[in-house]
Amino acid sequence: MSKFYITTPIYYPSGDPHIGHCYTTVACDSIARYKRMQGFDVMFLTGTDEHGQKIEEKAKEQGITPKEYVDDKVAGFKKLWEYMNISYDRYIRTTDDYHVEAVQKIFKELYDRGYIYKGSYKGKYCTPCESFWTESQLDEKGCCPECHRPVKEAEEEAYFFKMSPFADRIEKLLTETDYLRPKTRAVELVNNFIKPGLEDLCVSRTSFTWGIPVTFDPKHVVYVWVDALSNYATALGFMNDHYSDYDKYWPADVHMVAKDIMRFHAIIWPAILMALDQPLPKHLAVHGWITFNGQKMSKSLGNVVDPFVLGERYGADAIRYHILREMALGADSSFSNEIMINRINSDLANGLGNLVSRTVAMADKYFGGTLPTDRDEGDVDKELIAAVEGLRAKVDVCVDETRLKNALEEIFTVVDRSNKYIDETEPWKLGKDESKKVRLASVLYNLLEAIRVISALLAPFMPTDMPKVWEQIGAKAEDVTYEAAGRFGVLPADVTVHKGAIIFPRIDVDKEIEELNAIIKNNEPKEEAAEPDFTPDELAAQITIDDFAKADLRVALVKSAEKVKKSKKLLCLQLDDGFGGRQVVSGIAPWYAPEDLVGKKVIIVANLAPAKLCGVESQGMILAADTPDGGAAVVFPDQSLPCGSKIR
Ligand code: MSP
Repeated sequence: MSKFYITTPIYYPSGDPHIGHCYTTVACDSIARYKRMQGFDVMFLTGTDEHGQKIEEKAKEQGITPKEYVDDKVAGFKKLWEYMNISYDRYIRTTDDYHVEAVQKIFKELYDRGYIYKGSYKGKYCTPCESFWTESQLDEKGCCPECHRPVKEAEEEAYFFKMSPFADRIEKLLTETDYLRPKTRAVELVNNFIKPGLEDLCVSRTSFTWGIPVTFDPKHVVYVWVDALSNYATALGFMNDHYSDYDKYWPADVHMVAKDIMRFHAIIWPAILMALDQPLPKHLAVHGWITFNGQKMSKSLGNVVDPFVLGERYGADAIRYHILREMALGADSSFSNEIMINRINSDLANGLGNLVSRTVAMADKYFGGTLPTDRDEGDVDKELIAAVEGLRAKVDVCVDETRLKNALEEIFTVVDRSNKYIDETEPWKLGKDESKKVRLASVLYNLLEAIRVISALLAPFMPTDMPKVWEQIGAKAEDVTYEAAGRFGVLPADVTVHKGAIIFPRIDVDKEIEELNAIIKNNEPKEEAAEPDFTPDELAAQITIDDFAKADLRVALVKSAEKVKKSKKLLCLQLDDGFGGRQVVSGIAPWYAPEDLVGKKVIIVANLAPAKLCGVESQGMILAADTPDGGAAVVFPDQSLPCGSKIR
């Protein structure tokens, strides 16, 4: 039996899990289940990354030990995975003894091989990100390039991992193999990190103690990425005797991560493995973030809808379906209650739910639940049967390429095709005519077969609800195997259906949205709001100084401002730009009243081609920064600068 090893990142238990964490876990779970269904010997790993300064500080705030703190949080993660029906085979905690011991051995091995050396780290340190940065890595304000908060000057003795020996191999891995998915992301990694010269990685700390001690220099603890990344191997028994699955499952078939930790998995993890002479994982699948108002969803942004709350209302499978269906590999997916509810209504209630309930209800009404065995095939059947028979192969490809949104789209194309088949064959009319009963039985049988294949292939994605469908259509376990999902005509000709409860009830959109909004408002954190856990958008691709010089940025004075009629977002500003004046329309009305801006100097992009916004001409745009709560903050220059001053 072929093996298949898939992993999620190990999550920081520094807070409670939210719907953003669910995406990778649900995606990996669906793939793991699909592969099991195909007959693979699957190892699905998830876990928690429990060391580091942030955890140490949080525990201190609460007056408990770091271990007590993480134990409590880990229980929350496990509870959520149980609730979401996550079928992980192994759960690793980086505080597990065997992992600690293995990381110590890995560190020593890298040291003995000459890839780790002792040095002194002098640089800019960002406490929230637990990261040192070099001067050239800081953002334009001299702040942390990750979170844009101030950094402090710091120096500490540290061990470093030599990255440069692996640069060529890593570049080839990213550009010449299909390791990275989507491969388009290789360009930014190569241009931003490899081409400028891979910098050695700081791999130990002396400034905090909540970590794995370096055996041969115990005042150092292993810095988080060597500790964390190694989990994928130690969980199988690499460098420890706790498990003995390494030879069987390594290398991983798929590591799935979100884009913010792509670099660590695309560059640093392969470098560590190369240094240890170990085979490299086969694929790294990188997805975007679930965003809320354009921001990465996170607990401290106060925009989190608790997955338990959503699950209670709509069922865990509906949530699984929604997040998988919305996120294309590599892109962000914006979460909104409205989109979610509309999706559940259209695809699950109207699409699949209706297909099942109409078919089962008609089999029940016209034949007392058990179909007669005579058949009368019609021309329209062929297209439906071909769509059903071809579905498994299409879903296989999508799952193998980690394109789960596309897999679901393929399945729901057949759901739609089946509903269309009902419209084409009009079984309710056949039911009124005794002489058409044979044809009616054939139509219903074809529909039951379509539902059988659809639900068998959907089960890895929606494992809780599909057995309810099988019960209603009279399918037994052997009718919904992977093998059976590739064939038409598996149910017995005299199949008996069982009319049951509606599996996906329709949701009242307005009522639900009102209630969910009230819950979100209540959940908004009061204390944490002062220093939100802000993760900025990814840096854009590099540009040259000449590219930048094309943008003509100028200081301009706001002389008057008014709201644009018919728009909630737009303000129309009259500006003195030092060149005779101009009008600019800006989408900042939710955050600024006209009087907040009049008399203030702002920065404009002065050579932007004019555009019409809500019918009003805008000659340029005003610079504003994203704020952690999804808003915008206008950038105000030194107010003594004359209008028209050029910014370079
Ligand atoms: N501990 C590290 C990972 C170490 S893996 C060897 C870490 N943990 S994390 O808890 O902060 O994030 C874990 C994963 O969840 C990351 O891939 C992160 O991007 C993902 N997500 C967190 N919020 C998310 C969204 N809003 N949307 C999608 N994924 C999100 O990083």
